[in-house]
Amino acid sequence: MAEHVDANRLNSDLRCRFEYLSKFLNFTSDDIAMLNTFAPIVFPIIPVIADSIYRKLFSFDITKHYFVVRNEDFEGSSPKTNCGLTLESPQMELRKDMLSMYLKRVLTQRDWNDTFLQFLSHIGKIHTNLAGSASINVDYTHINALLGYLEHLLIDVLCNADKVDEKSKRGMLMAINKLFWIQNDFFTMHYLISVNDKSKSVKTPPSTKKPKCCWI
Ligand SMILES: *[C@@H]1O[C@H](CO)[C@@H](O)[C@H](O)[C@H]1NC(C)=O
Repeated sequence: MAEHVDANRLNSDLRCRFEYLSKFLNFTSDDIAMLNTFAPIVFPIIPVIADSIYRKLFSFDITKHYFVVRNEDFEGSSPKTNCGLTLESPQMELRKDMLSMYLKRVLTQRDWNDTFLQFLSHIGKIHTNLAGSASINVDYTHINALLGYLEHLLIDVLCNADKVDEKSKRGMLMAINKLFWIQNDFFTMHYLISVNDKSKSVKTPPSTKKPKCCWI
């Protein structure tokens, strides 16, 4: 018999959404354990990964533009210094740190409890126009591209880890892939809400602070 999934709850209850996705993707505690095993392998390379991501975002005017505009708000910089925005500028170093902290947290998390699901959802929400003053309003196309490239970089690290046996590699690869599809869904749900119906918003605590963990 087909398992019942309530469409309304799926859009209003993060836990329900996560449980449905996990069952569909067969994301289990074994996958979480695999991500935890992958963490120490990738940790030394995280600064390189963060650097590659922002190098990529700087290589297209359409994505670099977000940082150039944002830099006006960034502490200690005047419009004049915007012209000189580089990958080593304080704003960019901060963003690399945010991405690094995100990666460390998702890979080391052992208990995917409600606090953690809220965290995954919040990352998505602040990139849309739904998070009040913390909103960044980045087009989803760039989020999708960023997530895809980030996954590619992690898989590359895993493939080059020669001390890991093939069976573990396979397990970690599957877990990384599931993680990205779950995180991607936690982005798209906010983007779809902002397109369709703002009143259906998945509940995350209202955010009034400046964005702390945004990537773009
Ligand atoms: C979830 O787990 C973290 C520790 O990983 C803990 O700090 C937090 O309070 C937990 N949240 C809930 C809702 O249980």
